[in-house]
Amino acid sequence: MTETRQQDAVTSRLTVRELTLAYEDRTVVHELDLAVPDGRVTVIVGPNACGKSTTLRALGRLLKPRGGAVLLDGTELSKIPTKKIAQSIGLLPQTPVAPEAITVSDLVARGRQPHQHWWQQWSQEDERAVTDAMERTDITALGSRSVDELSGGQRQRVWIAMALAQETDLLLLDEPTTYLDIAHQVEVLDLVRRLAAPAADGTRGRTVVTVLHDLNQAARYADHLVAMKAGRIVAEGRPGDVVTAGLVREVFGLEAVIVPDPVTGSPLVVPGAPWQPA
Ligand SMILES: Nc1ncnc2c1ncn2[C@@H]1O[C@H](COP(=O)(O)OP(=O)(O)OP(=O)(O)O)[C@@H](O)[C@H]1O
Ligand SMILES: [Mg+2]
Repeated sequence: MTETRQQDAVTSRLTVRELTLAYEDRTVVHELDLAVPDGRVTVIVGPNACGKSTTLRALGRLLKPRGGAVLLDGTELSKIPTKKIAQSIGLLPQTPVAPEAITVSDLVARGRQPHQHWWQQWSQEDERAVTDAMERTDITALGSRSVDELSGGQRQRVWIAMALAQETDLLLLDEPTTYLDIAHQVEVLDLVRRLAAPAADGTRGRTVVTVLHDLNQAARYADHLVAMKAGRIVAEGRPGDVVTAGLVREVFGLEAVIVPDPVTGSPLVVPGAPWQPA
């Protein structure tokens, strides 16, 4: 009994304490507290400019806190060596920039940098991770193409592959489904779910934090949903508890009806007041 309960207990390697984030003199995130559940998918939703990307960047140590802290295993990120962080946390930014004229496989291979050493630049393990990441994102056939000449959706999948190739326990994704057609959106989100699923031997899956704009996809794929507004968390928890008409009104200023998703039973947000013909 006790053992089962311990296994079910939610732990958090990545936590945020009174985190304040600012650009010059403008504060955009205010004293945020968050515990990212291990081995689960956390989805952050909220209106444009509410601070989602800013928060994600701080979680990946791309942005230094103005106040408070981000902690990995209880230690402030600022006190952990960069390479160690890169081995633990992978971040796909909202608008990543590729080096000019780089090929797809070379870009994905850059995800392996945190695992390389001066005495060994490239190992079989690196090769396997890159091949695997490219297969999972359906870009194997694009390997020798230049990233510059890909479609938006192809390029997005290359970036996801690079983040996957890093093989970190924690994966932060900022709008990974942008530019993707609906089938590839579902494929990427299914992949995210599989990454977080426990292995057959019970080993915990990976921890994913992702920003999504589509509330219905967020409600379908999140274990833990975080709704932000103006740099603060307005609600968090299981999608079924968080996504209500009141929350959609409060966070997005949108009238909506919430019905059960006919496929998954998760909350489905249907915008309305209905349109009235003249
Ligand atoms: N590099 C920057 N310098 C100055 N201000 C910035 C910078 N990046 C973001 N901001 C500002 O910080 C606020 C939060 O931006 P952020 O990118 O975190 O929003 P977001 O929630 O990710 O929005 P979106 O849904 O549009 O991606 C915005 O007002 C934005 O203009
Ligand atoms: Mg953003």
